[in-house]
Formats: sequence, C-alpha cells, structure tokens
Amino acid sequence: MPTLTVEGIGQYEVAQNKRLVLALEQDAGIDQLHACGGHARCTTCRVEFLDGEPDRMTVAERDVLAARGLSGIRLSCQIVCDRDMTVRAISRLAGSGRKDAGHVPAAEIEPPAAWADV
Ligand code: FES
Repeated sequence: MPTLTVEGIGQYEVAQNKRLVLALEQDAGIDQLHACGGHARCTTCRVEFLDGEPDRMTVAERDVLAARGLSGIRLSCQIVCDRDMTVRAISRLAGSGRKDAGHVPAAEIEPPAAWADV
C-alpha cells in the first residue's frame, strides 16, 4: 500500500489506487475542498506535490489547469495513490468562506480517466 504523507499532518497507508482527494479526506482526515465533487471543474482540490508527483495526468486535469493558467499544483481528484506521495494541503475548508467542502467524490476518477503525460 502506498504511503501518503501530508506535510504537517502525518503519514498514512492508503489503499492502492485510491483517489487522492478521498485519501486526503478519509485517511488523513483533513478538510480538503472538492467543490465540484471531483469532476475536474473547480480546482479547489488542488495540492502541491513535495515528492512522488505522478508523471501522468488526466486530460481533464491538463485542460482545466491550462484553461486557468495554473502551474505548480495538481488536482487531487484526478490522481490515484499508485506510489508513495508527499503533498502540501493548500486548499481546505477552514478559512475558505465556503459552507462545506463539496459533494463527496465518487470512488473512481470522473470524468472517466484518459491519460496524458505531464
Ligand atoms: S476539480 Fe473540483 S474537486 Fe477536483
């Protein structure tokens, strides 16, 4: 099982290929935002990778990051825990002004993952 390290929070053994957004919420227990429910639309599930950044991304992630001119971050709803990873949680409910973190994302990546190289 991969080890997920969340800077300043802890280390967690997570199920192979679990969506990172769900691992952050359910395993690490943090108030990770996912306003669009994990559909690669809102970018509030963003994290910074400190180690173990996946070398592929979904086409949906690539396109929304490009459309918004974002770099240096990844979308945790578009990533599965397929390796040891260390991330910085930079988009959390606390202090966001939002009333909740968003609908709980499904177990599988949505839209169905089509992969592109980073
Ligand atoms: S882009 Fe909205 S939850 Fe990931």
